[in-house]
Amino acid sequence: MSFCFRKDQDKYQEFLNFLEANKNKKGAIMPILQKAQEIFSYIPEEIVDLMALRMGVHSSEIYGVASFYSQFSFIPKGEHEICICLGTACYVKGSDKILAELEKELGIKVGETTPDGKISLTEARCIGECGVAPVVSIDSSRNIEKASRAMVSDIIKEVLEDTNEVKA
Ligand code: FES
Repeated sequence: MSFCFRKDQDKYQEFLNFLEANKNKKGAIMPILQKAQEIFSYIPEEIVDLMALRMGVHSSEIYGVASFYSQFSFIPKGEHEICICLGTACYVKGSDKILAELEKELGIKVGETTPDGKISLTEARCIGECGVAPVVSIDSSRNIEKASRAMVSDIIKEVLEDTNEVKA
């Protein structure tokens, strides 16, 4: 899952073109980071270094901007995303326990991706479904309402079956 300039040559070239066309514009860091996120689905460390070099800024400045906005991720995203809502309505109904179970079963912490690249585990602060809390969202397209710790194995199984279907 790690970034490779040679393997990702087309993506790299697309990003490089955008970087070169925009690097001298005022406030360019943000749109260039957005482009990197769009192309690579995350912000590879190598891309931050490249931006710093071409833009003549310190990489800490780029990290500073990228860390401030939750839209940017420094880790590769998995094929699927399981997002647990930790907003108040979900939290008081035990979403923290669901999260602990997800972390245990997936063997990763929230914000990480499984080593096989299949599932990313993320958290949200209210996804607008408080009436059916706690809520687990799959790939931002399907919500599991009134989720519970006991449902975690089935949720993961279902997501992995989806992954297999996609690959078949
Ligand atoms: S707090 Fe979880 S959906 Fe609103």
